[in-house]
Amino acid sequence: MILITGATGTIGSEVVRQLVARGEQVRAVTRDPARAELPPEVEVVRGDYTDLASMAAALAGADAAFIVGLLGPDYVDLDRALITTARDAGVRRIVKLSAIGTGSADLGRVGTWHLPGEQAARDSGVDWTILRPSSFASNTLSWVDAIRAGQPVPNMTGTGTQGVIDPHDVAAVAVEALLASGHAGQIYTLTGSELLTTADQAATLSAVLGRPVGVFDVPDAVAREHLRAAGRSDEFIDGALAGQAFVRTGGNAVLTDDVHKVLGRPPRTFADWAAAHATAFAAAPTSSAE
Ligand SMILES: NC(=O)c1ccc[n+]([C@@H]2O[C@H](COP(=O)([O-])OP(=O)(O)OC[C@H]3O[C@@H](n4cnc5c(N)ncnc54)[C@H](OP(=O)(O)O)[C@@H]3O)[C@@H](O)[C@H]2O)c1
Repeated sequence: MILITGATGTIGSEVVRQLVARGEQVRAVTRDPARAELPPEVEVVRGDYTDLASMAAALAGADAAFIVGLLGPDYVDLDRALITTARDAGVRRIVKLSAIGTGSADLGRVGTWHLPGEQAARDSGVDWTILRPSSFASNTLSWVDAIRAGQPVPNMTGTGTQGVIDPHDVAAVAVEALLASGHAGQIYTLTGSELLTTADQAATLSAVLGRPVGVFDVPDAVAREHLRAAGRSDEFIDGALAGQAFVRTGGNAVLTDDVHKVLGRPPRTFADWAAAHATAFAAAPTSSAE
């Protein structure tokens, strides 16, 4: 049985779908099973990272676990505890979702947030695989409202490029690592096959949707206020802005062939992702006058 954390999130939900499609027995963790929309074949259990006893109960009997955790300065201990709880529950294979640039000095403190969890996986004594994906294609779903309203989308990374990756491919690599021992001890840096700016992604969406998608630059001070209004701590905000600056100055202009090596095919393109998700960006239906 394979235990999936973050099972209602971007990557975890896709890992669940792909495992179910392969006939695997899956248990999904969520804080609220009643609200989770998961395939009927899946055993859905309640678990909260902040209540490790609930996670230990969820992990009992699992052979392998996909560990997502929470990102940020407040969660590094939690991330580490989640891994050791999995190990102590008898899980024999752990796949940890991390992020590209982890451990890079140039990335600053955001590059340290996944390190304790990664180290816990490496020290766990069980098979471990670490996935460090680049920027998710699905991050552009935060543009849905702007695009539907015909407004430009925010750009915080200037002309910096990234190897934007389809979450489907991150999940597909996770599935391989969960099912086969050949990935033990590997750190995979997962990217798409092309380097894209924010403007490139907007242009691709524009072509797919058949309407203009403009871009406007967001100064750091404005981004800081936005994050503060969203309740983020100063330490989180400093880290997040350092991450954006890292991208802006070319630090994340990285492509690897790890997806191809694991899956035996090239990564999906951003254009593939945009075409598959075009309906999400379609204008909301206007209510007709009765
Ligand atoms: N976005 C990117 O471009 C990018 C790039 C590289 C790496 N990453 C990494 O991806 C990770 C995030 O993955 P994601 O985007 O798939 O997640 P996500 O879509 O943000 O979903 C978060 C998941 O965490 C669960 N969760 C939140 N708080 C929880 C708690 N206290 N206890 C138990 N579960 C909890 C939620 O489940 P419920 O609400 O159902 O409980 C949900 O399934 C981060 O570590 C980030 O560093 C992201």
